[in-house]
Amino acid sequence: MSHTPQTQQVFVEGLTLLQFRSVAKAEYSFGRGLIFITGNNGAGKTTILEALGLTSFLKSFRFALDREMVRFGSSFYRVESRFTLGDERHTLALSFGRNPGDEKSPLVKKYSLDSQPGTKAAQVIGLIPSVVLSPDDMRIIAGDHSERRRFLDLLLSMLYPAYFSALQHYHRALKLRSQALRTKADEAVLSAVDKELSESGILILERRRQFIPEFLSPFAKNLAHISSDKDVWGIDYAGNTQGVTTADDYRLMLKECRATDLRLKQTSAGIHRDRLYFLQDNNRERDIRSVGSQGQRRSAALALKMAQFSYMQAKLAKQPILLIDDVLNELDLSRRASFIDFLGGNGEASLGVGQVFFTTTDLVGMQDFLQGLNAAAPLQHIEL
Ligand SMILES: Nc1ncnc2c1ncn2[C@@H]1O[C@H](COP(=O)(O)OP(=O)(O)OP(=O)(O)O)[C@@H](O)[C@H]1O
Ligand SMILES: [Mg+2]
Repeated sequence: MSHTPQTQQVFVEGLTLLQFRSVAKAEYSFGRGLIFITGNNGAGKTTILEALGLTSFLKSFRFALDREMVRFGSSFYRVESRFTLGDERHTLALSFGRNPGDEKSPLVKKYSLDSQPGTKAAQVIGLIPSVVLSPDDMRIIAGDHSERRRFLDLLLSMLYPAYFSALQHYHRALKLRSQALRTKADEAVLSAVDKELSESGILILERRRQFIPEFLSPFAKNLAHISSDKDVWGIDYAGNTQGVTTADDYRLMLKECRATDLRLKQTSAGIHRDRLYFLQDNNRERDIRSVGSQGQRRSAALALKMAQFSYMQAKLAKQPILLIDDVLNELDLSRRASFIDFLGGNGEASLGVGQVFFTTTDLVGMQDFLQGLNAAAPLQHIEL
């Protein structure tokens, strides 16, 4: 997955925040290359990355709900990003809240691309592809399968808007099914919901199945580099959907679980329950969560994100922006060195730097890091 000349560059040139977190109003301009955002704890560094992430995958990488990002005392937030894609220029805006002046109106999230109101989420997701590195990455490795599915879903949604739409349909149908199960709705209702779930479910399943073996190679390669060829983890996808290959199979699976589901009042099988393993020797009892050391987990989390970058770059022929929140200080020297190689230091694994946003409280502590990087990469420093 080398950096080919056809790879399009994506650059965020400007970001405007309105009533977002602690920010009443702020406007930032960004150059290409490396952007260091520094400031004390609580200064608002992560807030900027969170907003950049929002304009990429439409969610908070901090797991925050939209209403939690609204500035205290305000009734809405708005984030606008101006970006270039090759030689095209675009403006993407996202807002959340009530209609101005109408305290009773419902909270809604709205998107606009190039000032077109009524833009759908699926039309803007992934336009600015991004990869986030944050201390929360450990949750993917050490957390439960829902955190791992979330990783899959975010990544695949940025690559395939149809995947994102299918997920939206799926989750809507899942809610309806729970309701139908609770109220013991009649056969016609349950069949209709099962049909919806099967149609979106199979699409999601197919994409995940295609992804796992393709992703394994960049993951293994990056992990070998970080761990000096010591660590090897396989990736395995499993669950009740194992034998399902068509929408009809999917429907049958749901039907078979119906008696149990009526008792539990929830849907017990499907892509929302499938499991993703990082395992040793093909053994599901040996998941990294239970047998990995702290250092092995850190390495795997880093390799996962590096692999996400190369995978997305190869699939999209666009170089994702990198949003790196506070993780550099946590890396030991050898992982730092691998990471410098990855960003385009002098190592072989070099990808060349596109646009990378870092936050840190301590720029002085990053001197070794800066020195290791390609001297030609432009640097920008934003002090909050
Ligand atoms: N909805 C909100 N309204 C107003 N302020 C908020 C809201 N949510 C968070 N804050 C505040 O915003 C400030 C900035 O938070 P942020 O996480 O961006 O800081 P940071 O610079 O990344 O800090 P650290 O170095 O500790 O990670 C914090 O003081 C936080 O309490
Ligand atoms: Mg922070």
